[in-house]
Amino acid sequence: MTQYIGTATSRVDGYAKVTGTAKYAGEFSADNLAYAAVVASTIAKGRIARIDASEALRVAGVLDVLTHENRPRMAAAAQAYKDDVGPEQGSPFRPLFDGKVMFSGQPIALVVAEEWEIARFAATLVRVEYKKEAFATDLHAQRNKAVVVDKPEKARGNADKAFAAAQVRHEAEYFIPIEHHNPMELYASTVIWNGGGKLTVHDKTQGVQNVQRYLCSVFKMKPDDVRVMSPYMGGGFGSGLRPQYQVALAVLAARALQRSVRLVLTRQQMYALGYRPATIERLALGAAADGTLDAVIHEATAVTSQYEDFSRNDTAWSGQLYKSPHAKYLHKLARLDLPTPSDMRAPGAATGVYALECAMDELAVALKIDPLELRLRCYSERDQHTNAPYSSKQLRECYRQAAAAFGWDKRKPEPRSMRDGSELVGWGMATGVWEALQMETAARIVLTENGHAEVACAFSDIGTGTYTIMAQVTADMLGLPLDNVTVKLADSTLPQAPVEGGSWTAASVSHAIAKTAAEVRKELLRLAKKMPNSPLAAAKLEDTALVDGKIVSKKDGGAVLLADAMRHGHIDRIARESTNTFDDSDSHARNTHSAIFAEVKVDEELGVIRVTRVVNAVAAGRILNTKTAHSQIMGSVVWGIGMALHEETLVDHNFGRVMNANIAEYHVPVNADIHDIQVIFVDEPDDIVNPLGIKGVGEIGIVGVAAAIANAVYHATGKRVRDLPITLDKLQR
Ligand code: MOS
Repeated sequence: MTQYIGTATSRVDGYAKVTGTAKYAGEFSADNLAYAAVVASTIAKGRIARIDASEALRVAGVLDVLTHENRPRMAAAAQAYKDDVGPEQGSPFRPLFDGKVMFSGQPIALVVAEEWEIARFAATLVRVEYKKEAFATDLHAQRNKAVVVDKPEKARGNADKAFAAAQVRHEAEYFIPIEHHNPMELYASTVIWNGGGKLTVHDKTQGVQNVQRYLCSVFKMKPDDVRVMSPYMGGGFGSGLRPQYQVALAVLAARALQRSVRLVLTRQQMYALGYRPATIERLALGAAADGTLDAVIHEATAVTSQYEDFSRNDTAWSGQLYKSPHAKYLHKLARLDLPTPSDMRAPGAATGVYALECAMDELAVALKIDPLELRLRCYSERDQHTNAPYSSKQLRECYRQAAAAFGWDKRKPEPRSMRDGSELVGWGMATGVWEALQMETAARIVLTENGHAEVACAFSDIGTGTYTIMAQVTADMLGLPLDNVTVKLADSTLPQAPVEGGSWTAASVSHAIAKTAAEVRKELLRLAKKMPNSPLAAAKLEDTALVDGKIVSKKDGGAVLLADAMRHGHIDRIARESTNTFDDSDSHARNTHSAIFAEVKVDEELGVIRVTRVVNAVAAGRILNTKTAHSQIMGSVVWGIGMALHEETLVDHNFGRVMNANIAEYHVPVNADIHDIQVIFVDEPDDIVNPLGIKGVGEIGIVGVAAAIANAVYHATGKRVRDLPITLDKLQR
C-alpha cells in the first residue's frame, strides 16, 4: 500500500519547471493585454495634496492613470478587505482608497498602457505633492510606547520570584531586524477580461480561494464571475498568504478598462509588502546549579503597522519546550509607520526560539555545563503549558543522531580553544520546535477505466512539493503507478482548501485524498461484488485495498481488476469528492522538533565568518517524500544562515524608507556561503496526530538554525553578538 509514500520521489512538476512550460502569474497572455505599473509614495506618512497625471497621460500608448480621485468603485468598509489569514484587529490596507499615506512605498497611482515599458516610464511622470506628517519607523525609539494587544500564554508559578531566587541566572536582550521574504518570482497578477464582467485571475498567491473571496468582497462580484489560479509559484514563504495589493489593482484596472491587464511589481516595490517584524526579545532564565530550570521569562516587543495589529507567538515556545516550574510571557507591539508585517517561515518561532536558544547557550556557559547536556537535563516529556503528553516527540533522538553525525563529543568547551590555521573554529547547537497543524480540506478523485486518476484540490504548491506528494498519496491509495496520476491544484474552482501555509498542507491534503480514495474503493467494491462468481462477494470494505490496479481482499487474496469491475458495472469513470476534518482534541500536544549543530570558522583578523557545517536532525512524523522534504529542510538551513549572518532590511528613519530595497544590498546567502549541510529525518511513528502520522515539514527547518550559528560564533570567538545579523563589524567592536 505504500509504494511511493516515504520514498525519494522526484518532483512530478520538475519537467514542466525546468523546460519552462510551467507558467507563472506574470507570464499568461491574452488578446489586447494592457500593462500596468505602480506609482509608490515617497513619504512615510501624510496626505496626497495634489496628484497630477497630465504629463503621464500625454505619453503615446498610455491608456489611463488610476488614483484615489478617479478610480472605479471599490468597497468602502474596511471589513470588506479582510481575508482568511489577516490580523483580526485593525483595518486592512485598501489600495488607492483615499489620499492617506500610511507607509513609504504605498501604491498611490496605477498607470495602464499598451506596453509595459510605456507604463513604467509614464509612472515616473506622475507628479505628486504631499502634506507630510511626523512619522516613526524605529522600533528601538518606540519600544516604550509598545502596547499589549494579545494575551500571551498563561503564566505558571511565580516566575519573577523564582528567577530572583535562582542559583544561576542569565538575562539578556536579543534583536532580530526586519527581514524580507525575497521570493525569486515577483508579485504579479494577469487578469483576463472574459467579457460580461467575468474575470480569470492568474495571481501569485498561496491561497487562490482566499484571493477569490477577497476580490468578490472588495469588488462586489459573484464567486462564479472570478476564477483565481496560481498553478506555480516562485517562492512564497508566507508573503503570499494574504492577497497582495497588486491583485486588487490589476482587477481594478481590468474593470475600469474592460480589458485584460497584467501588473508585475518591481523588486523594489516588493519591499513595501509584508516582512518579518523586527523584534526585541528579552529572556530571563533561572536555574539550579545542576542545570534544571526554575524560571523562564520571555518578553517580546515586535513591530506592527499603524493600521493592523499583527502578532505571532514569539514567547510561549520558551515555556513549552523545557521543564520549568515557573514561566511567564509578555508580548508587545510597537505601531510604526510601516506596512503590516506578515508571516515569514515559522513566524514567531524563528525569532522567539532564536532568543531562547541563545539564552540557553549563555546559561550553559554560566553553569559550566555542555549546552547539549543542559537541554537534556531540562528535557520535557510533556507539553509544559498543558501537561499533556506529546502525540510523539523524538527530540532526544534528534539530539543523539545529530550530535553523533556532527562529532559533538570532540568539542572543547572553552571559547577560542579550537582552531584551523588562521581561523577560529566554533561549534554551537540549538533546538527547534514548531506546531504540527492540520486543516479541513477537500479533494476530488476521478478514476477512469483505463487506470488513470486525476486528483484535485485548491491548495497551492509554493515550491514545496505538493504536486508530488499529492501524486504519491493518490497512487498508493488507489494502487496505481505514479505516472497514472494527474494532479490539479491552485484553482479556486477546485475542492476547498485553506491557504498553503503553517506546514499544514501535507497532512491536510493527504488525508483528504485518503478519505476520497476510500470512497472510490467503496464504489469499486460495490461493482466488483456484482460480478458473476465475484472473488470479493463476501469481502468487507475494511478488509480490502487497491493494489496494482486491482481491488484485493487482504483476508484471502481474492482480487478483481479495477477495469473489469468498472466494465461490468457499465461505467467508465468514478468521481468522488469528500472533505476531511481532523479530530484535534486537547488530549495531546502536536509538535515537530529538531536539533541543529553548526560549525563556523572565523578569520581571526578580519572577523569573516563562514558556516562550514550544519547538521539538522528533524522529527516530524512520517516523511511523505524524503527528497522534497530534504530540500525543504536544506533550504531552511540556508535561510537560517542568512538570518544569522546576512539578512537585514535597513530603514532610513529620517525618511521612513527602506534603504536596501534590492537583492544586491539586501544580503542573502549565495552559493559560496553554503558548505556542508546534512539533513537527518529521525524516525517518529505517530498514530495519534492523524491516521497517516504526518506532521509536515518546512517551517521546522529554520527554527533554531540562527541560534546554533550564533552560539558557534561565540564558541569560536568568545564574543557574544545578540543582535542579528552577526556581521564582522559587530565582532570587531
Ligand atoms: Mo508559511 S510563513 O505559513 O507560508
